[in-house]
Amino acid sequence: MLIRRRKGWEIPEREATSESVYLGRRTLVRAMGLGGIALAAPGVALAEDDPSASKYPVRREDRFGAHGAITAEKLATTYNNYYEFDTDKSIWRAAQKLPIRPWTVKVSGKVEKPFEIGFDDLLAHMPLEERVYRHRCVETWSMIVPWSGFPMKSLVELCKPVGDPKYVVMQTLSNPKVMPGQKDILYPWPYTEGLAMDEAMHDLTFIATGLYGKPIPKQNGAPLRLVAPWKYGFKNVKSIVAIEFTDKRPVSFWEKLQDSEYGFWANVNPQVPHPRWSQATEKPLGSDARIPTQLYNGYAEFVAGLYTNRKAEKLFM
Ligand code: MTE
Repeated sequence: MLIRRRKGWEIPEREATSESVYLGRRTLVRAMGLGGIALAAPGVALAEDDPSASKYPVRREDRFGAHGAITAEKLATTYNNYYEFDTDKSIWRAAQKLPIRPWTVKVSGKVEKPFEIGFDDLLAHMPLEERVYRHRCVETWSMIVPWSGFPMKSLVELCKPVGDPKYVVMQTLSNPKVMPGQKDILYPWPYTEGLAMDEAMHDLTFIATGLYGKPIPKQNGAPLRLVAPWKYGFKNVKSIVAIEFTDKRPVSFWEKLQDSEYGFWANVNPQVPHPRWSQATEKPLGSDARIPTQLYNGYAEFVAGLYTNRKAEKLFM
């Protein structure tokens, strides 16, 4: 494996470090002049300026169980993982450089006819709703946020897959000019993730285009990102530009970096530790106390059935 001891992909270890030590390291990085990208970012565009702003807020769909207290918007939108910008959590200012119009999604592979569709055109075809979901990062932080968007199933149907493909693969934009992290050739860009087709067609699987009743902020994956809430957060690929239907299981970004730590299924399970830390508990953003992590992140009643015939697989990493 090309990358063994690279600072970036080891963020989980950094998360496992005490916050004071971690913050100390960030201060050091800034002092060395390496952390200035975010601070130097020009005027921050507000979500309200987004051309799709008038579509939100949308009707809330509550059929996926109780969720708990919603995380403060400021926390969920300023504490992010978006490696294309930086391995640091505070990329939100730097992410404002991401151009999100025009934005095209390319559909290819085992479909009736490959096509490209503009984001606003896509949005016009999709049934928008809001869903409050738990989010559990593999690093052990968590949040509960109101996503707006549409069921992944509706997107799959629009794509018209043929020949019974086994997987759907999604990729983030490639644009090293505005995403400086992509200049780092030690990472397998573009960020790629995938789902088995039955996962993609599951009612819970969502494509988020909004957050907190507004267009989704750039740092959270504008203009569209995947949300599969029973899986570790790294499955939720941001800023999608390509969707492919295939029989070949994709090897995702994190799996390519370290397959002994990050797998394809990545379902949340408190009893299966990450090789370097426990997954038994999590720290909700904004809270000092840790709480128990739930099997499938609390969505077992909805999704456990997807895996009854897959017991031989490494379902929880
Ligand atoms: N998608 C891309 N393109 N790049 C990333 O670095 N990070 C993943 C996921 N999607 C990531 C990504 C990880 S590790 C997590 S936990 C979530 O995004 C974080 O989403 P949030 O920043 O909206 O909380």
